[in-house]
Amino acid sequence: MAGIRLPPEDIDISQARALSTADLISDDDRSIAADSWSIKSDYGSTLDDDQRHADASEALAAARFCAASDYSSDKEEADAETFTFTSMLGYQSYWDATYADELTNFREHGDAGEVWFGADVMEMVASWTKGLCIDISQRQLQNQHNDLDDDSVSESVSQDLAGWSVVDVGTGNGLLLQELAKQGFSDLTGTDYSEGAINLARSLANRDGFTGIKLLVDDVLETKLDKKFELVMDKGTLDAIGLHQDGPIKRIMYWESISRLVAPGGLLVITSSNNTKEELVQEVENFNQRKIGEVEEEEEEGKGGLLWYLDHIRSYPTFMFGGSVGSRVATVAFCFR
Ligand SMILES: C[S@@+](CC[C@H](N)C(=O)[O-])C[C@H]1O[C@@H](n2cnc3c(N)ncnc32)[C@H](O)[C@@H]1O
Repeated sequence: MAGIRLPPEDIDISQARALSTADLISDDDRSIAADSWSIKSDYGSTLDDDQRHADASEALAAARFCAASDYSSDKEEADAETFTFTSMLGYQSYWDATYADELTNFREHGDAGEVWFGADVMEMVASWTKGLCIDISQRQLQNQHNDLDDDSVSESVSQDLAGWSVVDVGTGNGLLLQELAKQGFSDLTGTDYSEGAINLARSLANRDGFTGIKLLVDDVLETKLDKKFELVMDKGTLDAIGLHQDGPIKRIMYWESISRLVAPGGLLVITSSNNTKEELVQEVENFNQRKIGEVEEEEEEGKGGLLWYLDHIRSYPTFMFGGSVGSRVATVAFCFR
């Protein structure tokens, strides 16, 4: 794929890791990946199953590196590869195998694992989210006490930030939570359906001195969390969910489930590389329409809340393709009311 500029030795390492990952993946999942891969092979020769499985494994390595690579790659090729190769990322068996590898790497070499969309995006998401929360807290404080001076407002707001309850769904290695802790958040919870991810996140948090971060195994589509959070973060999890064979249904389940995790007046901040800001806003609009429909059907007033677009990050690097300018990653904040 254009834009991935790995030295030859890195390519070898990635292929070796992908093969060990593929070894742990169930046959069902492998054939799904191979089937996705065959979408591409349909254009060319017909390959036997072993060859297709081997090629799908190799493609996985490429897909994993794409995720954290730079933004400057050629869009046409990137789209073709994303469409063709990333369907295994929609399956828990893939993530379990990946985090088993990453835990081994952590234990042997101290590696933190993949930083999805890169460290710059992660830092930008954390600092932008902090700014958003501070703005909201400031406005609330000023509304409640219009006699407070600016210094008192700033002081109260920075203390208030520590009181925001935060959950990062599909937290992976949990590094986004560490970044949020550096920004001043302290009530932090990370969840992931892969136990390996939670073990990795816990090991990293302990190593890096973030022992206050709570980490739990939980499937966001069938969450067992009975608490609501003022800030819900998702970086790459909706993307992964959408790559399952039943992606469209799972995405509907996702909006239902995630909206139940956001406290009234709270925020949902989604970072995605598979959806534009406009697509996310449209999906939320569809969710709202379904909610309104349910309320009308059940003739209940005020049942549940809706998600409202609040803001998005405008400062990601952009690239030009086919005459239009776009960004590889979108981060959008929604408010739940
Ligand atoms: C692309 S990775 C992103 C990881 C992390 N958020 C980050 O930015 O580094 C997607 C993550 O979502 C998790 N995941 C996928 N589906 C999930 C689900 N239904 N419930 C909880 N976690 C899920 C995967 O295990 C994986 O850790």
